[in-house]
Amino acid sequence: MPEKKYDFDTVLDRRNTCSLKWEFCEQVLGVPDVIPMWVADMDFPAPPEVVEAVIRRARHGAYGYPFIPRSFWSAIINWMKTRHNWDIKREWLSSCHGVVPALNLCVQTFTAPGDKIIVQSPVYYPFFSAVENNGRRVVGNPLRFENGTWSMDFDDLKKKIDRRTRMIILCSPHNPVGRVWRKEELEALAEICLKHDLLIVSDEIHAEHVYRGHKHIPIASISSEIAARTLTLTAPSKAFNIAGLTTSVVIIPNQRLLNLYRTQLENLGLTVNNIFGLVALEAAYTHGAGWLDQLMAYLEDNMDFARKYFSDHIPRIKFLKPEGTYLALLNCRALGLPQKELNEFFLKKARVYFDEGPVFGPELEGYERMNLACPRATLAEALSRIEKAVRELEDRS
Ligand SMILES: Cc1ncc(COP(=O)(O)O)c(C=O)c1O
Repeated sequence: MPEKKYDFDTVLDRRNTCSLKWEFCEQVLGVPDVIPMWVADMDFPAPPEVVEAVIRRARHGAYGYPFIPRSFWSAIINWMKTRHNWDIKREWLSSCHGVVPALNLCVQTFTAPGDKIIVQSPVYYPFFSAVENNGRRVVGNPLRFENGTWSMDFDDLKKKIDRRTRMIILCSPHNPVGRVWRKEELEALAEICLKHDLLIVSDEIHAEHVYRGHKHIPIASISSEIAARTLTLTAPSKAFNIAGLTTSVVIIPNQRLLNLYRTQLENLGLTVNNIFGLVALEAAYTHGAGWLDQLMAYLEDNMDFARKYFSDHIPRIKFLKPEGTYLALLNCRALGLPQKELNEFFLKKARVYFDEGPVFGPELEGYERMNLACPRATLAEALSRIEKAVRELEDRS
């Protein structure tokens, strides 16, 4: 076991720091004293090496237009090699202001209005809006839930593809079902995409958050044929808690596609990056591995702690431990509350705030998505609030 060097136990007060997660309940919903366990960021500071790099840059004082140094690209290339065993080249790389903006750019660049795009629901809801807001059509290829695990439905996928289908948006690892796709699954998916000439947009923003016994495989690393039709979107923002610095990575080995992407970036005037995001990305990918390993052990302990707590004290709520991501689904159907009441129950009675299941797709009616990236003390307090509220609900019925 490596020596414990980093502290994830100290509770960080995030109020009054322009934090969406922490301001929303009070300022928008008007409910104070809520533990927010919704939007996917963490209640831990970024690794000290990242914080120091940002402070150093901030102290410099001149914040004029940035130039992306060679060391930035090298940090990405080395990270992909050491962490994901993926050999990528400088010529394949571009950037964006986030994975969601890059996703929208890919939809705009590589498909035409009216085209069909496959989305595997339940899934991170901006996948739907990236398609629909750009005038394309969502074709659902819902995941199947059998024997406690989620899987892709390849037969359904084959049936759904027609002449207007151009693209599939893959979530790997998958938010919110927490699957880390195995090689055979990715190969089966890729084979269908090759056969039907579909582009693959692979959102791999959760790649670094994978638990023991699982391994993230970038789909483009499987073969050069697959790489040639894949647009991989990723970022250090989830892993190192730097989403507010709005810097992401776009990996497109196919030069023709990459040129189209870059032209679109230019046409929209999006070529200027956030200077602190550049610094933070490079520091995270260069110095963050040890911190990340310890974070993962901590998060996995959080998952096990919550699973045991639900099963021992709140058995009517089924906690589904994910293979990756710090997000877990709670099956709350046994509480017998319609979705709207369920959300109100957690917000106003338990005073914890989750993302409601159906925003990810109708498959998650009666579910909530819980974000467990917080100190153990915060998690314990949230669980005890939920337990108390469920008791009161049971006493009433
Ligand atoms: C699958 C997925 N993609 C993208 C994002 C957000 O990416 P960004 O903040 O870089 O736009 C999230 C955040 O929760 C996510 O879960």
